[in-house]
Amino acid sequence: MTSPQPPIHVACIMDGNGRWARRRGLPRTEGHTAGEEALAAIVRAAAQRNIGWLTVFGFSTENWVRPRTEVRHILSLHKKLFGRIAELNSNNSSIRWIGRPFDEPGALTPPFIQKAINKAIADTATNTGLVLTVAFDYGSRAELLRASQRVIVSGDEITPDLVSANMYDPSIPPVDVVVRTSGESRISNFLLWQIAGAKVYFTERTWPDFNAAELDAAIALVEPKVSQ
Ligand code: IPE
Ligand code: IPE
Ligand code: MG
Repeated sequence: MTSPQPPIHVACIMDGNGRWARRRGLPRTEGHTAGEEALAAIVRAAAQRNIGWLTVFGFSTENWVRPRTEVRHILSLHKKLFGRIAELNSNNSSIRWIGRPFDEPGALTPPFIQKAINKAIADTATNTGLVLTVAFDYGSRAELLRASQRVIVSGDEITPDLVSANMYDPSIPPVDVVVRTSGESRISNFLLWQIAGAKVYFTERTWPDFNAAELDAAIALVEPKVSQ
């Protein structure tokens, strides 16, 4: 008799939007628009699979140096993403966010995105299915430094459990499989603490071309967690 498998955590580094656009002779912004649509489709697909957590790298602490028009476009797409509340509710999915806390020095999330994030979290909080976490203004090193500092200030001895408890969202479980698209085999400051022990799925496909079949190939890397 096989027992049901516990839901898994998939983390995606959504790379290659610019290359997707360039190959089609389109501006980079079109690649980001297509990437947001691809994400919406992957969220729907994940909600129908044995995936409990989907964590995606939307915008990094390093990405702010990109051209202003591109950054502005990516911001508007995050407003759209956090506005997909009816869709998330219809899939029993909740949305969360990780990144530099809005009130901390150095944080760069603009107020209109803060509002969209807060509203989306509140409006999907009671859903019990997939947890979609969007990393925005996120960097793993900043997260780890902050967690370490918080433990040190508390006066406790620093331990792995206390570091985990001081992550931006401590309820996020360890990652089972990391996906990176567009042929890059790098992790780029994403969930460095949480991916210890994770499988890694690299694909040549750019993010806008990532689809449910690719998601299935990534999931297939995760061995059944329960045996005997
Ligand atoms: C990923 O696609 C999106 C973000 C990093 C915001 P890129 O914009 O990095 O696309 P490439 O790597 O230039 O193709
Ligand atoms: C990683 O992609 C960040 C996101 C997907 C948001 P980048 O395109 O910024 O990564 P690097 O700089 O090439 O490693
Ligand atoms: Mg890139």
